[in-house]
Amino acid sequence: MRIPRHTLIQFSDVHVVPEGTLLHGSVDTLANLAEALAEVEAADVRPTALLFTGDLADAGDGPSYRRLRDLVDKAAARIGAPVLYGMGNHDTREDFHESLLGAPRGDHERDFVHEVDGLRVIFLDTTDPGHHHGDLTDRQLRWLREKLTTRATHGTVLALHHPPIPSPLAILEMLTLRRHEELAEIVAGTDVALIVAGHAHHATCGSLGGVPVWIAPATAYSADVLAPAGLVRGTVGGGYTRIDVYDDGATATYVPVGTGAPVYELDVETLRRYLAEHTADTGADAAQG
Ligand SMILES: [Fe+2]
Ligand SMILES: [Fe+2]
Repeated sequence: MRIPRHTLIQFSDVHVVPEGTLLHGSVDTLANLAEALAEVEAADVRPTALLFTGDLADAGDGPSYRRLRDLVDKAAARIGAPVLYGMGNHDTREDFHESLLGAPRGDHERDFVHEVDGLRVIFLDTTDPGHHHGDLTDRQLRWLREKLTTRATHGTVLALHHPPIPSPLAILEMLTLRRHEELAEIVAGTDVALIVAGHAHHATCGSLGGVPVWIAPATAYSADVLAPAGLVRGTVGGGYTRIDVYDDGATATYVPVGTGAPVYELDVETLRRYLAEHTADTGADAAQG
């Protein structure tokens, strides 16, 4: 039985707006995140960290960052996990530093490494101020290459905002990450077990330089990947991601915000008995869903 050494919870594209307003006039984005955090808190999981992959305040404004911080700080304390905040194209560097991180206002990118109990999380800031596409500088690529010359005991999760793989939505292809070919060459053969990103508002998997890539859903709302040609459509409903890191790789699992009505509930002992009774002569397939 494979047990994960680490579990991260990834929230992306939370798009918090100032108090008393709704995103696009209809979505209470902070309430979505609050619901997701409550689900994690109630779950039988002890995350190594809560990882935020950008677009945290829809307009990059101080009041929205303070609302977000107030909610997340309290929830993270109850969950007992550190919070890792990364920037997206909707964020503004100055207010992000001051109002979310409580640091001096700064207009510099925010790349960072967080290492805990053998797991390394590297966040690479793909924002290009004033633009919605992603980009990386020579300095950032050199920095990442140098970091990845060493290996972490339990491997590395590399987090970005802009996906380094294609989106089925043409508009998002225009807003994608530049220099992804160079990133592919840098991560190939390193200890990076998984690359995670956001930005797209739809869940997608792929690979880059032989490394699995997960594009996380947004907690705020979803992009309709089957919308008619020429139409960009956001739909109600969001999700977040559970990342599990094992000795031989990592998995990313989509979690919808809001638990659906149960189809069945079975305690593990009952399921074990059922499998024991049915495996020998009928196979276990009847118990699979
Ligand atoms: Fe977004
Ligand atoms: Fe974005």
